Amino acid sequence: MDTVMSQLKGEGDETRFRDAAKILKNGGLVAFPTETVYGLGADATNEEAVADIYRAKGRPSDNPLIVHIGTAAEIERYAEEVPESAWKCAEAFWPGPLTLIVHAKPGVFAPSVTAGLDTVGLRMPAHPVALELLKTSGLPVAAPSANTSGKPSPTCAEHVAADMEGKIPYILDGGPTGIGIESTVLDLTSEPPAILRPGAVTADMLRPVIGEVNHSAEAADAGEEAPRAPGMKYTHYSPDAPVWLIEPDLGQIRNAVTRLRGEGKRVALIAPEGFGETGSDWYFPTGRLNDPASVSGKLYASLRACDGTDADIILAATVDDAGIGGAVMNRLNKAAGGRTIRS
Ligand code: TXA
Ligand code: MG
Repeated sequence: MDTVMSQLKGEGDETRFRDAAKILKNGGLVAFPTETVYGLGADATNEEAVADIYRAKGRPSDNPLIVHIGTAAEIERYAEEVPESAWKCAEAFWPGPLTLIVHAKPGVFAPSVTAGLDTVGLRMPAHPVALELLKTSGLPVAAPSANTSGKPSPTCAEHVAADMEGKIPYILDGGPTGIGIESTVLDLTSEPPAILRPGAVTADMLRPVIGEVNHSAEAADAGEEAPRAPGMKYTHYSPDAPVWLIEPDLGQIRNAVTRLRGEGKRVALIAPEGFGETGSDWYFPTGRLNDPASVSGKLYASLRACDGTDADIILAATVDDAGIGGAVMNRLNKAAGGRTIRS
């Protein structure tokens, strides 16, 4: 299959949106940008189309997909027993990087969307391209991140093409995404509501809106993998070489690099700007020190870039836990599988 990469330019975009919407309506897949990461979209009511998403990604069929909607009012159409908290969250955070798990209305979505669960994740994304596609197609769009299962989520159209070329008909290229890590997943069917995957909307932001929120550091997100035994879950978002976490301290990183190179290892470094003089074989500057939001936008691109090197080991600098930093650390911990270099 030929993959069309369609760059949005302002002028003539109506045709591009119409083409993309037509593909969706005919059961095809369209990759599109959101404010978090690129999604791989299909008509959420079309079972064959949704099955194609799992095939293109190599995703286990028991890991449910998020359904993207163009207005908050659609919650009523797709969910039942909607708690007041859902409306409050939609009012406060939509469009935005928050996925709400609610009870699905039976018989609306293709069975594969919810992977047999009676709940569904709904999200109204805050990206003009995603919103325009939802509006033009008029469909609820099931869309996981547009990466091959196990790879970091794509934050630009080139990442999507690297994983999906030849497997999907159409990529809407809206440039790099802003936030760079996936939405917060909030389960509103449990009491109190629970964060299943941390993201840019944090527990501290949710509490003033809906009250108590459960947030364990061991958030249960199954990522691209099928839900598995705890302890087996930190095995994705991974580049080919092993990732080790290290504090963003010039002295510590220099020492670690010197020791590793002394053992004959080639070292790639993911660290904030200003860490170019550590002696590492590759350095991918990733945001600024003490500014986790600047790291989140670049993290996945840097993890992917490491796969383009011959590194034997990747050192990745940790970030502050505050704000979106907690979500960044969640992804870094998964990439590293808990491996940390301590001085
Ligand atoms: O930012 C995002 O959320 C991106 C963009 C494209 O919207 N999408 C995304 O989708 O990250 P995906 O499929 O890669 O991650 C969806 C996560 C998975 O961890 C899945 O297990 C969880 O949401 N999820 C989906 N439906 C669920 C449900 N009914 N109950 C519990 N978890 C659910
Ligand atoms: Mg994903």
